Amino acid sequence: MAEFVQIKLNNMISELGEDKVKSILSSFMCPKNKDVELFIRYKAIEFSRQYLSRTTLVYWKSDDEKEKYLVGYYTVASKHICVCKDSISNTMAKRMGNHGTFRPDTKEYIVPAPLIAQLGKNYADGNNYLISGDDLLQMATNKVKEIQNEIGGRFVYLECEEKEKLLSFYRRNGFTPFGRRKLDRDETDLEGEYLIQLLKYLK
Ligand SMILES: CC(C)(COP(=O)(O)OP(=O)(O)OC[C@H]1O[C@@H](n2cnc3c(N)ncnc32)[C@H](O)[C@@H]1OP(=O)(O)O)[C@@H](O)C(=O)NCCC(=O)NCCS
Repeated sequence: MAEFVQIKLNNMISELGEDKVKSILSSFMCPKNKDVELFIRYKAIEFSRQYLSRTTLVYWKSDDEKEKYLVGYYTVASKHICVCKDSISNTMAKRMGNHGTFRPDTKEYIVPAPLIAQLGKNYADGNNYLISGDDLLQMATNKVKEIQNEIGGRFVYLECEEKEKLLSFYRRNGFTPFGRRKLDRDETDLEGEYLIQLLKYLK
């Protein structure tokens, strides 16, 4: 059976050197989301160097290990979320009370939660057909689980453009919308004025 291999960007740089890695990343294509493409090409290495986020590359490997293709990547960052009590269920509110702080003045929970900051398939050479979004997202949430297994925590979140196909993809994978964030001035590669924020409680 063909399998997926996950390689941490940092380990790849140690092994191959930065120039070679940059050249590999320069072939990553994501026409459906330019932010995803530009991040891996031009920002992931610097963000990693500054410990702002960490990126993992996902490769598809053939049975005989002769073929190996970059099929996608995800990036995780350490963050927290502010969640309005009115936007979540009672069960979720209880969980947030357990893991975070409640601010009565704003009726918000402040909870530490890793952010899946980037996630995308590589559309170059049809590599996107070798992996499903569900598998890629599962790998990203498993990474968060590994981290939380060491330091605690149960929540993970992400932000996406207000597009039905993206929202139904995340809903299908157990994420629930909890708010929206106005785009920063420098977030010019994304469409719309806001990003929808979605969270998941990891069991
Ligand atoms: C999001 C993603 C991982 C989901 O993978 P998947 O479940 O295997 O789904 P597919 O790639 O088959 O896409 C499903 C549909 O969503 C659409 N879609 C995917 N990304 C989209 C985007 N950013 N904007 C608009 N539509 C998008 C596809 O065109 C496709 O539409 P179709 O059914 O009409 O053909 C993958 O589509 C992807 O890498 N998209 C580009 C990067 C991206 O937008 N990442 C999310 C950042 S929040």
